[in-house]
Amino acid sequence: MPAKLIDGKGIAAKVLEAAKSRVSGLSFKPVLAVVLVGEDPASKLYVQKKQDACENVGIESKLVSFPETISQQDLIAKIEALNSDESVNGILVQLPLPKGLDRNAVLETVSPSKDVDGFTAENLGLLALGVEEMVSCTPKGIIKLIESTGTDLKGKNCCIVNHSIVVGRPLAQLFLNRNATVSIIHQFTKDLSEFTKNADVVITAAGVSDLIKADMVKDGAIVIDAGIARKNGKLVGDVDFEAVKEVASFITPVPGGVGPMTVACLIDNTIVAAENQRR
Ligand code: GUN
Repeated sequence: MPAKLIDGKGIAAKVLEAAKSRVSGLSFKPVLAVVLVGEDPASKLYVQKKQDACENVGIESKLVSFPETISQQDLIAKIEALNSDESVNGILVQLPLPKGLDRNAVLETVSPSKDVDGFTAENLGLLALGVEEMVSCTPKGIIKLIESTGTDLKGKNCCIVNHSIVVGRPLAQLFLNRNATVSIIHQFTKDLSEFTKNADVVITAAGVSDLIKADMVKDGAIVIDAGIARKNGKLVGDVDFEAVKEVASFITPVPGGVGPMTVACLIDNTIVAAENQRR
C-alpha cells in the first residue's frame, strides 16, 4: 500500500490558526525584526513568506535589510540596537549570510530571549540539556509532522541526512529528548544507505534531488523531506518521491511538507518570545 501523505500545509494552517487566536488575546501586537543581508533570491522569497505569515496572524514584521557589503562590525551593531529596542520581541537573521561575515558571531549577538530561530549558544545549549525553550523552526516543525502520524519516537531509529545547525544538530537533540536512537549522516558519510536502510524515520535536508531512493528506505519507514532542489525547472526535495512512496508508511510532499511548518513554528516562537518578555 502506498504511503500516507503528511499534509504539512494543512498542519501548518492549524498551527497558524491557533497562533492567530493567541495573538488576538494579547494586549499588544508582537513585533518580529527580520534581518536580511544581501540579495539572495531564495532568501528573499523565504523572508517574504515569513512576513506574509506574520501579517496573517497579527504580528508586525519589520524587514531590516542590508547590502552584502555591510561589515561584520556594523551588522553586529545593528543587531545590538534591535536587542535594546523594547518594541522588538523577536529577531531573525536569515541564513545563509554572504561570504565574509562570521555566521556564528552574528547569530551569537542576538539576545537569547529574542532568538526566535533558536540558533544562539544559549538556546542550543538548553536544547542539548533537554530544555526545549526556543527550538529552531525546521526541526520543531519536523517533530510536529512526525507526531501527526501518531508515532511514538521512543526507541525508534532516526536517521538525519544533514548536520547543519539549522536542521540536523537541533533535530538530533529533539530526537534524543524523546529517547530515539539517532544517526546523523552527511556528504562525507561513506555509505548513506548503510544508515538509512536501518531507520524507522528518515529525515533528509541535503538539497540533492533523488538522493534518497526506494532501495535505501526500510519497508514502512516514515520519510520526511526537508530538501529543496530543482529538477527540470520544478521544485523538488531529496527523495525520489514516486518510488519511495511505495515503500514508506508516511511521506511528506515537496512543496507543501516541511516548508510551511518552518514558517508556522517561527510564528509560534515569536509569540512565545513576546509573551515571555511581557511577563
Ligand atoms: N535559512 C534556511 N532555513 C532557515 C531558518 O530556519 N532560519 C533562518 N534564519 N535562516 C534559514
